[in-house]
Amino acid sequence: MTEENATLYRGLREVYIDRTTSSYIDGKAGKLYYRGFSIDDLAENCSFEEVIYLVMIGELPTTGELSEFVSDLKASMELPEPIIDIIRIIKDAHPMDVLRTAISALATFDPEVNDNSTEATLRKGTRLTAQAPTIVATHSRIREGKDPIKPDPDLSIAANFLYMIFGEIPDPQDAKLIDKDFVLHAEHGLNASSFGARVSASTQADLHCAITTGISVLKGPSHGGAAESVMTMSLEIGSEDNAADYVRKTLDGGGRIMGFGHRVYKAIDPRSLHLQDDLKALGERKGEPKWYSILQKVLEVMQPYSRRGICQNVDFFSGAMYYLLGIPEDLFISIFAVGRIPGWTAQVVEQFENNILLRPRLQYVGELDREFIPIEDRS
Ligand SMILES: CC(C)(COP(=O)(O)OP(=O)(O)OC[C@H]1O[C@@H](n2cnc3c(N)ncnc32)[C@H](O)[C@@H]1OP(=O)(O)O)[C@@H](O)C(=O)NCCC(=O)NCCS
Repeated sequence: MTEENATLYRGLREVYIDRTTSSYIDGKAGKLYYRGFSIDDLAENCSFEEVIYLVMIGELPTTGELSEFVSDLKASMELPEPIIDIIRIIKDAHPMDVLRTAISALATFDPEVNDNSTEATLRKGTRLTAQAPTIVATHSRIREGKDPIKPDPDLSIAANFLYMIFGEIPDPQDAKLIDKDFVLHAEHGLNASSFGARVSASTQADLHCAITTGISVLKGPSHGGAAESVMTMSLEIGSEDNAADYVRKTLDGGGRIMGFGHRVYKAIDPRSLHLQDDLKALGERKGEPKWYSILQKVLEVMQPYSRRGICQNVDFFSGAMYYLLGIPEDLFISIFAVGRIPGWTAQVVEQFENNILLRPRLQYVGELDREFIPIEDRS
């Protein structure tokens, strides 16, 4: 095949590049499975710690396995002092830039950094999953002029995350919401950031490189930034009565409604359903039911778009949930990143175990054989 008549798969839409057992999305039916288990069962019954084990190891843990795994996670939650120093130096950067930089720097402290065996990669993935929330929370405190708080070994990852940000043991209901949110974000097929992580792994770069790539790719508003954009939209709408007008004006102006649409789901993203009632209850509990009402109105106005497969995605309700929990808006995307580390790790392991360099082609459409003019003769 010559390059001129090469078939282009722009955006790699519908292109399958390999096989996986880590997750399955049925985009038409709006279903998601991690390692064969429905997200509906996992979101309602499992802790994030159980789901990390499931996604990375491939099986649900027994009580004994979970307790050993949780001990491993807890042993890694604290950050080396020089990482905290780095966070101090770059405290004014966006939280995703801080997370990416700190994880990159953590590579230099990891004794197994260059070991790409499955066992070492899973151990490193476990350590990074434990360290990432501490990075995000430590940065949040430092930039507010407060002292960082060390993780409390008696708390779950989700509860610790809130504790290290706010300095108070969180309400168990709040911690449960973050726990569920991490579960819902743990793994999701060949999304752009997992693809980025796999490209990195396909060159046999190590897990820290792959996760740094994943975080970089996730930062874009078309991928991980949507929860923050949904909250910005809700704040701009301000009241339920303005919602319909706002949505229509945005769409008429050629804009997009954030938290809607997905490359794979052409039905409702099942993850969004697991946050909907929780957001309603949280809004009532915090005395701020209006954010849920605004989003409900947006949903109503967007209803006709569902016929075109443009439905609400996971980010639609999560932004308002973080907001009601008092989490600063620019931290929203880092919460997604923290939750996704198990998925990136599982896919990097799959890539290493059956590796092939990911190296597609670009069809060249520029000129050829142009006349070369020495620099002194160019005008
Ligand atoms: C996620 C997203 C990038 C997927 O895009 P994609 O698969 O490449 O789909 P396209 O960008 O080609 O969009 C297909 C059509 O749906 C429309 N569409 C997609 N998302 C839309 C949205 N959120 N609001 C309004 N229209 C939307 C597009 O305008 C396009 O219409 P057209 O065919 O008339 O031009 C896209 O839906 C989007 O930008 N959503 C908002 C951001 C978001 O919530 N991201 C989080 C994803 S979990």
